[in-house]
Amino acid sequence: MTTAVIVGTQWGDEGKGKIVDLLTRDADFIVRFQGGNNAGHTLVVDGRKYIFHLIPSGILYEDKVCAIGNGVIIDPAVLLEEIDRLREMGRPVSGDQLLISEHAHLITAYHKVLDQAQEDGRSPKDKIGTTGRGIGPCYVDKVGRQGIRMGDILDEGLLRDKIAANLEEKNFLFTKKFGLSPLSFDEVFAPLMDQVEQLAPHIVNVSVVLDDARKQGRNILFEGAQGAQLDIDHGTYPYVTSSNTVAGNACTGSGFGPAHIDSVIGVIKAYTTRVGAGPLPTELTDEVGDQLQEKGGEFGATTGRRRRCGWLDGVVARDAVRINGITGLALTKLDVLSGQKTVRIATRYKCRDAVVTSMPARVSEIEAAQPEYIDVPGWSEDISGVRAFADLPRAAREYVRRIEEITGVEVTLVSVGPDRAQTMLLKNPFDEK
Ligand code: IMP
Repeated sequence: MTTAVIVGTQWGDEGKGKIVDLLTRDADFIVRFQGGNNAGHTLVVDGRKYIFHLIPSGILYEDKVCAIGNGVIIDPAVLLEEIDRLREMGRPVSGDQLLISEHAHLITAYHKVLDQAQEDGRSPKDKIGTTGRGIGPCYVDKVGRQGIRMGDILDEGLLRDKIAANLEEKNFLFTKKFGLSPLSFDEVFAPLMDQVEQLAPHIVNVSVVLDDARKQGRNILFEGAQGAQLDIDHGTYPYVTSSNTVAGNACTGSGFGPAHIDSVIGVIKAYTTRVGAGPLPTELTDEVGDQLQEKGGEFGATTGRRRRCGWLDGVVARDAVRINGITGLALTKLDVLSGQKTVRIATRYKCRDAVVTSMPARVSEIEAAQPEYIDVPGWSEDISGVRAFADLPRAAREYVRRIEEITGVEVTLVSVGPDRAQTMLLKNPFDEK
């Protein structure tokens, strides 16, 4: 049995979907443990593009089990849409192939309305730029012990009571605070009743299934969403998502014991991007930023928003290594840097009179941070066809080495394009034991 966790090291959109997809070949179970359909994984297989928001990317392999752990929040309509799309693609998904934790919380209509109303109510400078999918309000209800869990939809009486109690409070907010119309009971309840028959075969205790899998010696891959700087505790708060995106949550968010995790792969894009609001110390607002944005196709997979771009940030990378316990880095989109005369990596920030080597806690401090860079010579060659590390231009290899020096972690995978084939897997976490 081998287990590996894959996490994003930056602000999400590092290309985790492709890395998960690749390592899935050697896994028996693929498990999501946090976030919801705010995530978006774009996969290109044989030239065809697939975007999933909720179902683990591993679903494209027919012989794998995909699990949605208790730490994920689920919009059932989105989940069913993805199941339907897979069926249309000729890949019907059975209850044995897709497992949904009975402990996972549901995103309902009132969470989405509240997410949008709260975002609209923020002043321009305070907007988070949420994906509007109801993520924050759903996690608030979970922690407030009033959430509706997947298993609850199997008990109609319980579901009715919970919806009624929640609506009383939410409708008060909608009408009295936000000037909106109230939601009716049926707007929330009826869709769930329509969906229950389709969802029921998938609902299980994921923790028990994973523990059995471990005892049977199966390989398990945990698929993180978003990235370390969007983590609710460790990210650039309040410009973060509402879950823990770090590797520790692979255990909490699925009910799997920490002592059984073997490795943590941090996915790191060769430069930095951020979608939504919040500080981005290495942001490039010049033509280099535009080049990275265009060449990298940097548009959000979930909202289609243009991603802000900047140089690679070693402070961010080191933070990610520390808080996740990263054992190997998967470097993505190295090909996008081709053609830059010089490439830069921030190694630390000058922050007012101090020099800092980890991300400051307060946004005002991060905004005051001036990155200090090292310059590395660029390369002009198109590297998207390179398949062996030794065949990369010397300058590109040097760039990889500098990342290893700055983070203290080896790069175990290099990706030079969106297709599965455009990947150099230098060390496979599933070969290590
Ligand atoms: P929320 O997760 O919808 O509440 O959004 C909070 C912040 O996280 C916003 O800045 C979003 O743009 C960002 N965010 C959420 N999910 C992702 C993701 O999968 N990739 C990149 N940014 C994300």
